[in-house]
Amino acid sequence: MRAFDLEAYVARSGALDLSAIAWEDVPLHPLPAPAVRTLRYMQDIESHTIVYLRALLATRAIDDPEVSTFLACWLYEETFHGIALARFLEAAGYPVLPRACPRGQEPLTKRLEVWATAVVSRTWPDFCAVHMTWGAINELTTLTGYRRLAAVANHPVLSNLLDLIVRDESRHFFFYYRQAEIRLRRPGTARTARLLVDRFWAPVGSGVQPTTELSFLAAYLFSGEDGRAAARKVDDTIRRLPGFHGVALLESWMDRHAAHGTNGGCNGHRHH
Ligand SMILES: [Fe+2]
Ligand SMILES: [Fe+2]
Repeated sequence: MRAFDLEAYVARSGALDLSAIAWEDVPLHPLPAPAVRTLRYMQDIESHTIVYLRALLATRAIDDPEVSTFLACWLYEETFHGIALARFLEAAGYPVLPRACPRGQEPLTKRLEVWATAVVSRTWPDFCAVHMTWGAINELTTLTGYRRLAAVANHPVLSNLLDLIVRDESRHFFFYYRQAEIRLRRPGTARTARLLVDRFWAPVGSGVQPTTELSFLAAYLFSGEDGRAAARKVDDTIRRLPGFHGVALLESWMDRHAAHGTNGGCNGHRHH
């Protein structure tokens, strides 16, 4: 795999070009109700990025100059994803309402997680390896989710917008993945990182959004033959990282939490 060119990334990092989107055409095409629900979730997560970053800034992430430079651009781009998705929802007739829970007041479990992350990072010098691995998994899940959404929603303007977003997410994924690959070369680091991922990983938005929403979205995007294949591809890619052979991620999460319906997951069946 080629190296990540940080300088080139920083030079062209920027806001999505929203003028490239035919916003006035948005209401001309039908937008399925499950797509609206999925977009609301994704919009919330994207605009929540700064909250995730707040947790990470209490860690060793900012000790590494390459990582901190990347994170600055990454936050900027993710924030614009949130803005773009909000604009799309509004154009489609579903304006995004302000969050019921202010960002400053996260639930106790979330604050405990922030604290635990900070403690692990203080006591374990290779914490950045798990941060980068986590980032790689989440970016890959996100970009795969957007690709799946474009396929199942079948709305031409949405597809154009998601193409632009996916281009950013691919670069994010590549940065994290390369970093993880390098940092996991030390077997001890890889073992601990694997342990933490096995124990604590859940899809982006877990703990921030209700599980019902996440299960719904997962079923809408990743059930059916194509959806399953996409989820498996995410898992297979992460399994190629040192120490991550056979790791159970998206597909096994689907087995535990998401409905298996072929009708877009609206049947409400749960497998456990
Ligand atoms: Fe994003
Ligand atoms: Fe991203």
